[in-house]
Amino acid sequence: MDIRVVHGDITQQATDAIVVNLFEGVTRPGGATGAVDRALGGLISTLIAEGECKGKKGETVLLHTFGRLPAKRVLVVGLGKQQDFTLDTVRQVAAEACRFLKGKGIRRAATILHSAGIGGLAPHDSAMALTEGALLGTYAFTALKTSEKDETALETLEIVEADRGKIPEVQAGVEVGKILAEATALCRDLVNEPANRLTPTRLAEVAHTIATQHGLKLDILEREQCEALGMGAYLAVARGSHQPPKFIILSYQGDPAHPDRNLGLIGKGITFDSGGISLKPAERMEEMKGDMAGGAAVLCALKAVAALKVPLNATAIVPATENMPGGGATRPGDVVRAMNGKSIEVINTDAEGRMVLADALCYARQRLGLKRLVDVATLTGAIVVALGNLRAGLFTNNQALADQVLKAGERSGERFWQMPMDTEYRDLIKSEVADIRNTGTGRGAGSITGAYFIREFAEDTPWVHLDIAGTFLSDRETGYYVKGGTGFGVRTLVHLARILAEGKD
Ligand code: BES
Ligand code: ZN
Ligand code: ZN
Repeated sequence: MDIRVVHGDITQQATDAIVVNLFEGVTRPGGATGAVDRALGGLISTLIAEGECKGKKGETVLLHTFGRLPAKRVLVVGLGKQQDFTLDTVRQVAAEACRFLKGKGIRRAATILHSAGIGGLAPHDSAMALTEGALLGTYAFTALKTSEKDETALETLEIVEADRGKIPEVQAGVEVGKILAEATALCRDLVNEPANRLTPTRLAEVAHTIATQHGLKLDILEREQCEALGMGAYLAVARGSHQPPKFIILSYQGDPAHPDRNLGLIGKGITFDSGGISLKPAERMEEMKGDMAGGAAVLCALKAVAALKVPLNATAIVPATENMPGGGATRPGDVVRAMNGKSIEVINTDAEGRMVLADALCYARQRLGLKRLVDVATLTGAIVVALGNLRAGLFTNNQALADQVLKAGERSGERFWQMPMDTEYRDLIKSEVADIRNTGTGRGAGSITGAYFIREFAEDTPWVHLDIAGTFLSDRETGYYVKGGTGFGVRTLVHLARILAEGKD
């Protein structure tokens, strides 16, 4: 979809459809919606009075103009209650509106900026959110369809701004929105790709493409190099698979004069999680092709950080491997040693995410000297029990960094919930035979024991862990999500990099 900013009056646009909006409870629309209403002889007011147009969030009412306006149609999109209106509402309603238009086979549309006026949002942010919503809401994964390709597309969306002075700001917002949406769409593609296509080797190739496109530094460590580094935890997971593991390191130098102003983004890169010898049940096992969603999120975030030229040094690390059962696979009861020398008793081979992250965190600190670490992982089913599909779990050893991630989440619209890390939880991963065991004793606090395990390898470095097991997939079309990968985490990480760059600490 081509998104363009034009100067003018929305009522004067000659296009297939113009999009205006309505807050819930408004009986006499004002602004652009009011002007359209007048041109249509009060049609919108009548529909409101009849209860057919309520302004509920995401509601879509399509009207034909019969020549009373240059545009053929008017789409009235509901913004919901004014007191609930946020930047994320803009993303959601833009997505609903564009998906609706696409469904009607409409190819060209023009829209106003939702609520730069009455809703009180900065034109830049509103334009950014509108762009993200329009692009992500019409996202489709079509790579593997041979026949029934999706023919309909909303090809052009014009954002019509009446105030010429605001155009540069709106234009800048659109550019940021495009970069964020493109990175998120790539992340969705990677999650949606089946594991026979998206192997660790292929993921490394994707990292290579990103590196070439944006002039980034890329290192891929092979199994032998990881062995030499003592990455016994990561390699224990890779042993059961015929696919070679790839330890991916992608670096962007946005502030070369200050090497210490850096951020390490570590993503779980399990291209398929069968559970290993602790084999998973068959039901919904296919979703485990997306167990590299954290890894995809950090690679795609770095792509956007580079495209936006954020003045901060950032490195994405993805320990990529399959987790498969096989003759060489790690067994429950095996003890392995991570790169920092800690011995790990493998109780359950399905708790593999924390194993690969352990060595990735050690590498980030010991080899790269990264000063702040954020890991993103589809780590535990337990976080889905705790938080469902709405919020991701956030865990930390450093409240200041956690607050910055939470602030980034407010900007992106991705929601998080901070989970407790009382020291007593550490007792649950004590081992009889090794330094630490890879699952808790008992069934309680599964996400916290996972986080505690990872924390052992962050040591004293400020660290935040994001458990996205409940948010990496959507089971339906809602707001700017469609069925399949959500790209969760990408936009928050980009905003985090921008926040850290602003802070200059
Ligand atoms: N990849 C899974 C977690 C997961 C579950 C992600 C559902 C997305 C949806 C992870 O590797 C796993 O299997 N975790 C185990 C840990 C347990 C063995 C301590 C789990 O959650 O059951
Ligand atoms: Zn697992
Ligand atoms: Zn897993």
